[in-house]
Amino acid sequence: MDLRLNRYIAQAGVCSRRAADGLIARGVVHLNGAVVRDLGRRVAAGDVVEVEGHAVAPRAEHAYLALNKPLEVVTTLDDPQGRTTVADFVPAAKGRLVPVGRLDWDTSGLLILTDDGEMVHALTHPRFGVEKTYRATLRGQMETAAFARLRDGGIVLDDGTKTRPAKIRVIAQRRDESVVDVSIHEGRNRQVRRMFDAVGHPVVALERVRFGPVALGDLPLGTTRDLTERELRALQEIRERALARGVVR
Ligand code: URA
Repeated sequence: MDLRLNRYIAQAGVCSRRAADGLIARGVVHLNGAVVRDLGRRVAAGDVVEVEGHAVAPRAEHAYLALNKPLEVVTTLDDPQGRTTVADFVPAAKGRLVPVGRLDWDTSGLLILTDDGEMVHALTHPRFGVEKTYRATLRGQMETAAFARLRDGGIVLDDGTKTRPAKIRVIAQRRDESVVDVSIHEGRNRQVRRMFDAVGHPVVALERVRFGPVALGDLPLGTTRDLTERELRALQEIRERALARGVVR
């Protein structure tokens, strides 16, 4: 093994490489018992790395799970109010997995969880927005003009920010309700609900059905599955592209 210290810490699932540089600069990282402040420092086999007094080591194997998150579950690992969290659905043998991004309490569907800190960072970085698809049930029958506004982008949301172009596919149209699949690259807070609010069709129900190369498929609600080799390779390619573009350090 010969790894840069920040990468070693990120691969141990502690944080991103950039955040690891911050820890090194703060003097809370020890290599073989001595504080390291050199950001370029490398780690060799047999070296002992400690972060804030705890020994850390990259895992040989990371865990990558897909969860079909039920409604009324918070996307955190601990909830001070004692509500059900996504961690409650992770089999104990998988250890402590972190959610890749978040779904609202009142959104169900696909959430990826992993202990690969670098992957979490690459997949959630706003400059490298992975495409996410949501099945949205909307109030009212959507007219062509509203579709066009969403497809074109540039809708000003309630906080003054503008949306980027979205892909829209109509699944069902009824007199008082529409069902659409909407694909976006952004991940701002309550993004999909705010987009449809802005065009006058509030979201009644929201489910994430795809995250980049990973589809929800028929995974039962409240259960998890390991990502397939193929899905993992596709996610790793995304990570490598983010690395090559300097989005992830
Ligand atoms: N957009 C939303 O409005 N909610 C989610 O949970 C995800 C995307």
